[in-house]
Amino acid sequence: MAKASPIDLCTLHDGAVLEQIRSAMTQYGVLVFRGQKLSNEEQVAFARRLDGELHAKTSSSVLAKNRFGNEALTDISNVGGDGNILEAQDRRRMNGISNRIWHTDASFENPCGRYSMLYARNIPPVRADTEFADMRAAYEALSDELKETIAPLHVYHSIVYSRHTMGFDFSPEEQAKLPGATHPLVRTIEGSERKALYLASHAARIIEWEVPEGRLLLKDLIEHATQREFLSSHQWELGDLVIWDNRTTMHRARPFDDKKYKRELTRVTTLDLPRKAHIANTVNKAA
Ligand code: OGA
Ligand code: MN
Repeated sequence: MAKASPIDLCTLHDGAVLEQIRSAMTQYGVLVFRGQKLSNEEQVAFARRLDGELHAKTSSSVLAKNRFGNEALTDISNVGGDGNILEAQDRRRMNGISNRIWHTDASFENPCGRYSMLYARNIPPVRADTEFADMRAAYEALSDELKETIAPLHVYHSIVYSRHTMGFDFSPEEQAKLPGATHPLVRTIEGSERKALYLASHAARIIEWEVPEGRLLLKDLIEHATQREFLSSHQWELGDLVIWDNRTTMHRARPFDDKKYKRELTRVTTLDLPRKAHIANTVNKAA
């Protein structure tokens, strides 16, 4: 995790600076930009400039209409359309609270999520941090033998599965909109050419293995990757925009009293599509 020096992302159109941010993302995996002032539209526009196409098939989109009228702008809050704190039993709350288990955004989609950009619009007076696990460092710390075992494996990711483990179930109609996706367990990240474990609580089974053995290995690997030495934590301030690379990190929200305090953030996640075309786009638009 690294903190960027002061910069106004809202007015940032310079292709060279955007490229510097992408390189810093490749190096650090998580970047913190303090003191941002972004409307909903400006947050979405910045995400497009930095990284291209946006993820909109979110789990919240199958539960209720987005309160901002744009499914690419995910409402990471405990607040409803009337501005009040959600009832304890509200399905949007039950779904949102599952952000407290280790996960990767949109790993249950194909293409999956690449960058997530989370912006703090209203923060509680108590700590409600976001924690990150470095999945490249975690991969590199594995034994050579285990690296060899897991190299050819693929994992089926499903948000229906991970929510079920939390006691939250989607209806059959909702499930039909969230079919899940299969991805390699180990991915090589272009730019750094380092390898990373690609895991999440959405990881339901290893395609090549029987279910119990596969599930045990997935649990072991998540336990390994979330040891202290691979973790960093972000303590939110109003106006923070935090960007993380879902290919090289897992994350989770830390608990706070969400029945008492409001916490309102908005997230935009980009899709892991080939880069070249849209970087050329950015440079062209900036010119
Ligand atoms: C997210 C998420 C964690 C938090 O926005 O994808 O998991 O601390 N957020 O709100
Ligand atoms: Mn998340």
